[in-house]
Amino acid sequence: MTIKNICCIGAGYVGGPTMAVIAQKCPNIKVTVVDINESRINQWNDPNVEKIPIYEPGLSDIVKEARGRNLFFSTDVDKAIDDADMIFISVNTPTKTYGIGKGMAADLKFIELCARQIARVAKDDKIVVEKSTLPVRTAEALKNILDNTGNGVNYQILSNPEFLAEGTAVDDLMNPDRVLIGGDIDSPEGKEAVEALTDVYAQWVPRERLLTTNVWSSELSKLTANAFLAQRVSSINAMSELCEKTGADVNEVAKAVGMDSRIGPKFLKASVGFGGSCFQKDILNLVYIAKSFGLNEVADYWEQVILMNDHQKKRFAANMVKAMYNTVSGKKIALLGWAFKKDTNDTRESAAIYVADYLLNEQAEIVVYDPKVTEEQIYSDLDYLGSRSGDANRQAVTVVNDPLEACDGAHAVAILTEWDEFTTLDWQKIYDQMLKPAFLFDGRRLLEPETKKKIGFEFYAIGN
Ligand code: NAD
Ligand code: UDX
Repeated sequence: MTIKNICCIGAGYVGGPTMAVIAQKCPNIKVTVVDINESRINQWNDPNVEKIPIYEPGLSDIVKEARGRNLFFSTDVDKAIDDADMIFISVNTPTKTYGIGKGMAADLKFIELCARQIARVAKDDKIVVEKSTLPVRTAEALKNILDNTGNGVNYQILSNPEFLAEGTAVDDLMNPDRVLIGGDIDSPEGKEAVEALTDVYAQWVPRERLLTTNVWSSELSKLTANAFLAQRVSSINAMSELCEKTGADVNEVAKAVGMDSRIGPKFLKASVGFGGSCFQKDILNLVYIAKSFGLNEVADYWEQVILMNDHQKKRFAANMVKAMYNTVSGKKIALLGWAFKKDTNDTRESAAIYVADYLLNEQAEIVVYDPKVTEEQIYSDLDYLGSRSGDANRQAVTVVNDPLEACDGAHAVAILTEWDEFTTLDWQKIYDQMLKPAFLFDGRRLLEPETKKKIGFEFYAIGN
């Protein structure tokens, strides 16, 4: 079976870039990305390709090439479902904020809505692909909904979790370590569906990197991969605190440990804490699943990764207050970086939000600069926490477009995102314009310490 027409439900950080790359690499497949969020679709269709809603290096060029040729963005979900032979579900699966599993389980209401819509609309057989990150055994629920509410057509459900990281999404999609496809490989129809999706990726991914498993292994592998990655960050962050007490340097420890080929050098960078839409949500989901099977030790083991991360964010902010003579009340503090990592405009679960909130509770005046995050987003992130009124956030927090302006007259500067441009700022000029003593807190181990100390900064870095 050859796929000719793909529909992707969800034009977000995963659906948008993934489908853009599929469209670019497979000019014979028509790819339509649909979303209920009209303004997001309008942004994807903006004639100025630099205005697409997601910032990812290299993405706008791909969209420019494929959009209008075989890549389309639309709000007409029904039509795209009807036309497609393969439907990707790439909607959000956030942590539940209500009811059973509140604060832990994944909220699957958007997934279920998609399934019901597909069942209502589809008039011929479809392959439905789980692209969203889902709890293990979600495919079973999807199949039940599709089979029991549909128009008597046949569905094959595949699990094809996405491993891209934001900021490097295009590279990750072009050259993935592996593409995981879970399907019902014991039935001829299931096998055929797996092969159809494999053939799509094989247009640009070497066959040996296309990995096939059963559906449950595929679903669980995604949660496992994120849990392992986050665990490495929490592990090195735990050591960063011990380094600060003992005179060891966490960068040196990470290098020494990472040179062991069994451990490897990646994902050992100490930081102010991991953020992003995935790590916390997926581990909480894993913890919830383990608990629901009565596996309390398994649940506790993984929950510690989150507890350590919460501790790291809080500890960083508390250290700032402590260093500044135990009070930041009325003091201007510049935060450089708001995105959860460099090269993205995504701020979901960014450590910066929590550091700012802590400092605001201590009555600091905050000025934020981030090269890609809008003022509106920064206020919305703070408002979402509900720690104080929207007016209070707007009174205590200023957002500026120039890093030097952010630091002008400040008592302290904190680096919260590792944007490359922060390394080449005129730090002498920044120092000259700050109040003295001028405090500089590096939450990313981005800056070279000796030169900053020589300028005169009171310099603090994670794990040093
Ligand atoms: P997102 O919030 O950026 O995008 C999801 C989109 O789905 C939104 O635009 C929303 O309007 C749309 N949507 C929701 N319900 C819909 C419906 N019924 N019909 C049409 N559109 C609907 O989310 P995201 O970051 O792209 O994540 C999507 C999934 O991929 C999640 O399960 C996430 O865990 C997973 N994932 C994310 C990343 C990442 O880096 N962001 C990486 C791997 C996996
Ligand atoms: C992650 C996974 O890497 C990706 O495979 C999955 O598909 C989605 O979740 P993402 O959250 O986009 O990707 O970015 P990632 O590079 O993993 O960074 C997550 C957070 O950890 C960021 O806040 C980053 O700054 C932090 N981090 C990462 C560290 O603090 N230290 C590190 O060594 C690596």
